Amino acid sequence: MSHYLKHVFLLSLLCLLGAYVWLLYSQSHPSWQKWQAKYYEAQTQLLQDRLAKTADGNEKASLEKTLIQVKGKKPEIKPLLLPNGKEELCLTCHLGIEEISPSHPVESIGCTVCHGGNALALDEKTAHQGMYGGGHPGRLDVTALSCGSNANGQCHDGRKRPEDNIVERMQTSLMASKGGELSMVRYMFGLDKEQRLVVGASTTAAALAHPFDNRQDEPALQQNCLQACHQSEGSLFTASTTATATAEAQGCESCHVLVNATHTYSGQDVTIPRDKPGYGMVHRITTQIPYTQCNQCHNVGLPDLYHMTFNLRTDLNRVRSTPPEQADQQEVRLQNVYQPGMVFTSCEVNLDCIDCHTPEEVMGDGKLYTSEYQALKIQCRDCHGTQTEPPGFWIIGSSDDMALRQKSVNPAFPVLDVGGKILRTLRGEEMPYVRYESGLWVLYRKTNGQKFVIPQVQGSACRQEPDKQTSNDCHQCHDVSGNHHTSP
Ligand code: HEC
Ligand code: HEC
Ligand code: HEC
Ligand code: HEC
Ligand code: HEC
Ligand code: HEC
Ligand code: HEC
Repeated sequence: MSHYLKHVFLLSLLCLLGAYVWLLYSQSHPSWQKWQAKYYEAQTQLLQDRLAKTADGNEKASLEKTLIQVKGKKPEIKPLLLPNGKEELCLTCHLGIEEISPSHPVESIGCTVCHGGNALALDEKTAHQGMYGGGHPGRLDVTALSCGSNANGQCHDGRKRPEDNIVERMQTSLMASKGGELSMVRYMFGLDKEQRLVVGASTTAAALAHPFDNRQDEPALQQNCLQACHQSEGSLFTASTTATATAEAQGCESCHVLVNATHTYSGQDVTIPRDKPGYGMVHRITTQIPYTQCNQCHNVGLPDLYHMTFNLRTDLNRVRSTPPEQADQQEVRLQNVYQPGMVFTSCEVNLDCIDCHTPEEVMGDGKLYTSEYQALKIQCRDCHGTQTEPPGFWIIGSSDDMALRQKSVNPAFPVLDVGGKILRTLRGEEMPYVRYESGLWVLYRKTNGQKFVIPQVQGSACRQEPDKQTSNDCHQCHDVSGNHHTSP
């Protein structure tokens, strides 16, 4: 063997040895062990902080007991055995992650039914391979798999009653296609003689190369739209894989996963970096959606088509940095909900958007519309009636009435039973949280169950005209914003 070859031989031997040592090491210290150690460390810290704060003897004793237990934990694989006989190992690394919601109990549905991925893998890369929407199961291009008809059966799609097929409905929602904004702008520019469908259920505004027929100012307008709001390359709800897109929640998540100002995670799962945007505050989906969540997109500014700009509201930074726990205070709501200069009545601020805007408005009703006004269902008179008519209603006829299923929205709602009288809008949607009780119409706020009596126009001194029922009409006299020159 030549001198040179000897060197090569020795070198490769060394490399092989190195690789072998690394293999032995990584097998005895797999990354899941590291995450578990980190998790127990974090839990220990939490318990110690709580111990330092409490003066209660009983609590102290119980905390100390838990502390000893946590400190004694050894790394171990955490299999999750599901009722269908399948096993999942995701929790081995994602130890301590919050249950996504009480109606999706972890012990019966597991993780991969929503996320996809490889349930039995114990290394990060393999486990995450093929995850729906790259960790965003709510993205509308994957919801058919994640939320729709999947391994667990027919969940939010493929069901008998069309209203249960939310995945399909959502595809027609204006908030997903942006068809309303686009039709409106094209109409205003004179590109269409009347408002027409520009996008359909399978295309979105973002998919159109030239939404404004190559008008000279098209690039500027598009650019401005993207910068102001639609950071995910124009598509708020569909496939978007750019780096900026991950900073925002997507699809179903943009309403159902609550976020803080920085879109960062602050839950118990230690694998998730605390400073990386793109996550909900905790691993949780909810139907109790506060106005702050809707106002990530709504009430952030106004478009100025004449100058081809979208002007963000001047106080937006202050609004966005309001901590979630302060955002619900009355005086903060008055400042934060609507942009400066707008007019509104008290209930438009005291209630949350979802107390008025119905599920069919927010998640689509299966039909395609060309403007917000066609898609809208709710009217002021639905709750307040008119001088001659009280609100419409529905009486729960049987125990399988759809309205009864809605009790899951907030457990704080009083029980609703057969015979109960609830509100029904003129467009035919029931509102089970608006009820007729002891001669009064009352509303229970979805986010916190707070009860409000709804004042009725009938029998009041209201001076409205019977055929003037839009909110603009009402705002002429009813305005608590201080931005209006007249008052009742
Ligand atoms: C070996 C450990 C490990 C296993 C096993 C594992 N994960 Fe993860 N997972 C991680 C780490 C670490 C991160 C954080 C990645 C990062 O820094 O962005 C993560 C992130 C995620 C995310 C967020 C994606 C994102 O955008 O950051 C999801 C969703 C997820 N995991 C789901 C799963 C599911 C479902 C399984 C089981 C099929 C699983 N994980 C198994 C370690 C693991
Ligand atoms: C009902 C569907 C569903 C189930 C079941 C589910 N997740 Fe998630 N998961 C989501 C959604 C939705 C998000 C939010 C993504 C976002 O905010 O962009 C998410 C986010 C995550 C993240 C990123 C951190 C975060 O909170 O945003 C991790 C990690 C994760 N899931 C792991 C798991 C593991 C592990 C399980 C099983 C114990 C599981 N998930 C079960 C729907 C689900
Ligand atoms: C990710 C951004 C985003 C979020 C979050 C969002 N919206 Fe929207 N919404 C839009 C856009 C964009 C439009 C206008 C679409 C169009 O006209 O093309 C819209 C339109 C609407 C409309 C009128 C049209 C319709 O479909 O009924 C209502 C009502 C509405 N949103 C209510 C809500 C409520 C309530 C929430 C919170 C639960 C919410 N939105 C959250 C972006 C969003
Ligand atoms: C624009 C906001 C918004 C988006 C986007 C959205 N939802 Fe909803 N969703 C709501 C609101 C508000 C409610 C509560 C309605 C109520 O009080 O019953 C709700 C209720 C629900 C419910 C429970 C009540 C019911 O009607 O069955 C399910 C399930 C649901 N959404 C699934 C989804 C899925 C799946 C997606 C994505 C395909 C999605 N949502 C997208 C706002 C939204
Ligand atoms: C007290 C009930 C109520 C509350 C609360 C409410 N809205 Fe509305 N909203 C309405 C009614 C009624 C209309 C129809 C306007 C009309 O009659 O002209 C409307 C119209 C809209 C429209 C259509 C375009 C427009 O600006 O007129 C959007 C978008 C909208 N609301 C979003 C929201 C959002 C986002 C929130 C929460 C920040 C919210 N609404 C809170 C009752 C309400
Ligand atoms: C989902 C039911 C609902 C809808 C829709 C609704 N309101 Fe109300 N409204 C209430 C409730 C509850 C109260 C009592 C709580 C409060 O005053 O904030 C109220 C109070 C009022 C009052 C009496 C308090 C005052 O400020 O003088 C007026 C006037 C009023 N609403 C006008 C309107 C107008 C205008 C609209 C349409 C833009 C509207 N409401 C839509 C539920 C509703
Ligand atoms: C020309 C002015 C005017 C217009 C327009 C008007 N209102 Fe009124 N409204 C009044 C006055 C005045 C009262 C009595 C105020 C009072 O008793 O404090 C009143 C009372 C009410 C009340 C009862 C408030 C309570 O506390 O008992 C409701 C609800 C109401 N209006 C709703 C509406 C709605 C909804 C519209 C639009 C369809 C509307 N009003 C349009 C002037 C108007």
